[in-house]
Amino acid sequence: MNDVFNAVKVNENVYWVGAIDWGIGEFHGYSTPRGTTYNAYLVMADKITLIDTVKAPFMDEMLARIASVVDPAQVDYIVSNHSEMDHSGGLPRAVQVMQPSKVFASAMGVKALGAHFGTGLAVQAVKEGEELDLGGRRLRFMETWMLHWPDSMFSYLLPDKLLFSQDAFGMHLASSERFADELDGSVLEYEAGKYYANILLPFSSLVVKLLDKVKTMGLEIGIIAPDHGPIWRKDVGRMPGLYAQWAERKPTMKAVVTYDTMWHSTELMARAIGEGLVEGGASAKDMPLGVRHRSDVMAEILDAGALLVGTPTINNHMFPTVADFLTYASGLKPKGLVGVAFGSFGWSGEGARQVKDHLAAMNVELVAGPLECKYVPGPEDLARCRALGVEVARRLKLKCGT
Ligand code: FEO
Repeated sequence: MNDVFNAVKVNENVYWVGAIDWGIGEFHGYSTPRGTTYNAYLVMADKITLIDTVKAPFMDEMLARIASVVDPAQVDYIVSNHSEMDHSGGLPRAVQVMQPSKVFASAMGVKALGAHFGTGLAVQAVKEGEELDLGGRRLRFMETWMLHWPDSMFSYLLPDKLLFSQDAFGMHLASSERFADELDGSVLEYEAGKYYANILLPFSSLVVKLLDKVKTMGLEIGIIAPDHGPIWRKDVGRMPGLYAQWAERKPTMKAVVTYDTMWHSTELMARAIGEGLVEGGASAKDMPLGVRHRSDVMAEILDAGALLVGTPTINNHMFPTVADFLTYASGLKPKGLVGVAFGSFGWSGEGARQVKDHLAAMNVELVAGPLECKYVPGPEDLARCRALGVEVARRLKLKCGT
């Protein structure tokens, strides 16, 4: 593999030595049609230090990239910023090959790595604010508890002003370009938002606290090097700014209408509701679950003020794709939404009522009871659907203060 996979220089002292996964389409329930990268970084100092590793099957690629700079056996330290397997999966082999004198992680990271790989892996805990002298450069550690695992931490390289931010500010985007300024900004914003919505959304209050802490510390950041996607060397405030906006969950006039359908009746209801939303001044994003992935629906919810969920009734239950979406969405705890359940049924009609209960359990502010129609919606049913859309838009206007 050597002479094929090269390291990429991030600055005079730091190299990207990660791996590009062009072939991944699904990441624990999250669709990744653009693939991803597992970023690892090599810090060249007196103590040569590797920041994170890669998913186990990509270790040959990572070792080859390191070897393009230095013999991997010369690596002195390994820092594990995050123990999830896409970053630590290669750690046991890295330790075997490199025989580093020390491996560092947060206190929770030590426990998590022990639980993953057994206690044979000696890992030293570092504390919040502790600095590690690499000889010529220093690494300062900052715990980022539950962003998004208990072990997560940032490492800040001095005097380079380079933040190794692990999953934070990352995205699932494979590319041959390593830097964000080489890529299409609208793709970056969509993929970073999708990542936030599907990974970090439940921890938004912690994101706000972390951003405040970074501001209070006056931490100067010249480069953000996340564990997925491109590295930010220009416009470094863009991702923290977007995170602040997403964490705030300010109400907007956007409504997401998501549903599945058996014989197009619930679909017809959704379309009529959408017309009413637009009539009322909202924007409607129609996301049929038969063809849209749950994680893409979450990406749309990130900047939405309303969530309307429709289902037919099948064997006394909501449709399985709708149950799948609601189970996934409720774990991500989107806040500040108004919404409603709707759906067509033949005889028993439990589906929309179950959706209503689920939305209520998610603290969605229900605008009305479930809107139901028997078999195929007629003109009067569709008029009720349209009126419901108008009403949801009216409630959104009140929330937005417009
Ligand atoms: Fe990229 Fe939480 O792992």
